[in-house]
Amino acid sequence: RTVFVLNGPNLNLLGKREPHIYGHETLADVEAECRRVAGELSLDIRFHQTNAEFQLIDWIHEAREQAAGIVINPAAFSHYSVAVLDALKACSFPILEVHISNIHQREEFRHHSFVSHVAAGVICGFGTQGYVFALQRLARLLAKPAT
Ligand code: DQA
Repeated sequence: RTVFVLNGPNLNLLGKREPHIYGHETLADVEAECRRVAGELSLDIRFHQTNAEFQLIDWIHEAREQAAGIVINPAAFSHYSVAVLDALKACSFPILEVHISNIHQREEFRHHSFVSHVAAGVICGFGTQGYVFALQRLARLLAKPAT
């Protein structure tokens, strides 16, 4: 089964950007860990990052045709992109939302996520381990949709 792991703006700077908030691991480290876990779960992953809203939307459209689920860290788009929400609304498979930081502990404007309206589950504040938990959850939802 193919699963898309999608990352929004500024996550290319992971490890360098505000490390006191996001940690020292790079996005390449996260990708390697996701690939390792996906292998264990027999999932085939497509891992992408973009700073452009249209590109994220295009990948969601691609996932809609090709994938069984999405793990997404929409980064700042979470908080203002109705377009990303609408793209996700067009998907009929499980969507798991990940934030590395605990968005509820941070500025007020980070407390609301449009993506949470369509997410089967939301993980935040677990650091980059959140991606692993999201993949594990997705594998379980794909195997046993009701639990
Ligand atoms: C983030 C949290 C967002 O508020 C922020 O804009 C990001 C990263 C996280 O992973 O904690 O870029 O999604």
